[in-house]
Amino acid sequence: MSVEAEKRLAAQAAADMVRDGMRVGLGTGTTVAYLLAALAQRLPKVVYVATSPHTEHAARSLGLVVETFDELDHLDLAIDGADQIARSGWLIKGGGGAHTREKIVAASAERFVVIADSTKSVDELRAPVPLELHAFGLAATLRRLTPTSVRDVALSPDGGVIADYRGEISEPATLAASLSMTPGVIEHGLFSPNLTSEILIAKGATVHRTIGGTV
Ligand code: A5P
Repeated sequence: MSVEAEKRLAAQAAADMVRDGMRVGLGTGTTVAYLLAALAQRLPKVVYVATSPHTEHAARSLGLVVETFDELDHLDLAIDGADQIARSGWLIKGGGGAHTREKIVAASAERFVVIADSTKSVDELRAPVPLELHAFGLAATLRRLTPTSVRDVALSPDGGVIADYRGEISEPATLAASLSMTPGVIEHGLFSPNLTSEILIAKGATVHRTIGGTV
């Protein structure tokens, strides 16, 4: 089965978890595109928030009701893809530069469900770790974060500079804490296992479900 078919399968399994009356966070990326399509088939009575302008636009164009994330103070469910899923349950996200909003949405949801094809499973995380940085003092922040390079993409919707940390990731928790404590870092793309409720990885025609932390 192709990677695209696996993405569609994982996305469909997550779409089946969406029930009428829920407030649901929508991630960003190619796997989430299949989720949007699956939700559009069924159109459950749900209010959505989107983690990126791209997802917001795509969801609305499929007929999904998307609200801003200014007034809602929590979500029932958030569903998103990942770039890497380690055996330890740590994720790397932000390949599309949307990890700051993605983390806010994931942390606001009672259940955060990750959907992925089988290529996303890794024994251990490897560089790069996406970063969003303040534009103010950028050169000095980059110096503190060596080896990090600015990605050649537009600023985030919140005005942040998207960059990639290319150092060692032997201890994700230690690196995550260190990145979070670095002045100038708005957010990094390391997602702790504590954030995740369930991981759905499609391998061939089967969706492997992991509840909570380790895969
Ligand atoms: C967006 O910033 C990312 O975190 C994506 O969620 C992640 O890269 C997965 O994207 P794909 O589903 O396109 O692989």
